[in-house]
Amino acid sequence: MRVVLLALAALALASGVDAATPTPTPRARSSSSPTPVVLWHGMGDNCCMGIRGIGELIAREIPGTHVHSVMLGSNPAEDAYRGFVGDVNAQVESQCETLALDARLAGGFHAIGFSQGGQFLRALAQRCGDRLNVRSLITLGGQHQGVAAPPRCGGDATAAAAAAEEEEEEDDGEEEEDDGASSASVGALCRAMTDAIARGAYARFTRDRIVQAQYFKDANDLASYRKHNPFLPDVNNELVDDGGEETRNETYRRNLLRLEKLVLFKWTDDTVVVPRESSWFGTYAENDRGGAIVPLREQRMYAEDWLGLRALDEAGRLKLLEIPGDHMTFTREWFVTNVIDAHLREGGGFKGAAGRWWLGGGPWRGGVRAFARWLRGATTRRRDDDDDDDDDDAYGIE
Ligand SMILES: *[C@@H]1O[C@H](CO)[C@@H](O)[C@H](O)[C@H]1NC(C)=O
Repeated sequence: MRVVLLALAALALASGVDAATPTPTPRARSSSSPTPVVLWHGMGDNCCMGIRGIGELIAREIPGTHVHSVMLGSNPAEDAYRGFVGDVNAQVESQCETLALDARLAGGFHAIGFSQGGQFLRALAQRCGDRLNVRSLITLGGQHQGVAAPPRCGGDATAAAAAAEEEEEEDDGEEEEDDGASSASVGALCRAMTDAIARGAYARFTRDRIVQAQYFKDANDLASYRKHNPFLPDVNNELVDDGGEETRNETYRRNLLRLEKLVLFKWTDDTVVVPRESSWFGTYAENDRGGAIVPLREQRMYAEDWLGLRALDEAGRLKLLEIPGDHMTFTREWFVTNVIDAHLREGGGFKGAAGRWWLGGGPWRGGVRAFARWLRGATTRRRDDDDDDDDDDAYGIE
């Protein structure tokens, strides 16, 4: 495992994609360079494995794009751990500070959140609008109305875990060092998270420490949710003060309205996010144990426009879009057409002919997990042959 991580770290250094730290000698962004992109990975993943391929894909499709992949803590293993353990409010604040220091982002950036990274980037846009210029926010499988059950372990954007799982399957007999990002530790963390939430998401110990508890929402007990969930009710402007009065933070609405667009992708067959409509701000009806969903446009949050979603929608700047399949499954073709071409290109729609030839197949076909496997294979293959594989060229790995 360590070998793989070192290889990936070397790739990280060799590529143009910045892992997480702000550059020490920032250069001002010239007006002609493309809008930078900030990525926030999902649970079980980290800054620098599966998601790196996404950053590279963006930089390849729109040459010169600066891509910053959020890293919590000081290394990728800690970053994976912080996807389960920590105080989300503090994590969001730490990212506000980090991104504000990166001069390359000062002219504005697009933000793309995968799974829980979606609601965390939204919190960042809402809270740090005075320090950051988030031009557009795109979330894939985000849990904007929380989850009513802990996310299923192994089902999220676990490119890191997928790579490691594969290692277990191969069972090559080597001693596996626990570097904190292995499937064993990610799996153990995920099971511990599930157990903790089952015992009570809002018990103080759990709500203060377990990331997923901080977006857990039980529609049959919204009073406890509003009172004890330290993150989501605040970010969704659902809080009630001690006198029982509903309160709204007007800053959140104002900052979301600064977005040029808010694009929310929901997986059609998502089995990880419960309910999957949470990706579109859908939520279970209060105290309705039948599991009826109230879509965003039928909620008070929308009618009274607590977050500016209605205003964005009426201006045509809120997009509710679908991705076929289960959570975190997509092909690179899908991503290029539906995210990069549709939302990241200036002017929209321009497609360079160059580089198209490799989109038809290759390692991305199976989504992030397949990509992680491919990348792992590629880093291993590199050592003992120099076959001129098209796929390798496609990812610019020398
Ligand atoms: C509203 O949010 C802003 C940004 O996070 C924060 O500075 C401010 O204190 C909040 N206001 C209230 C009343 O909570």
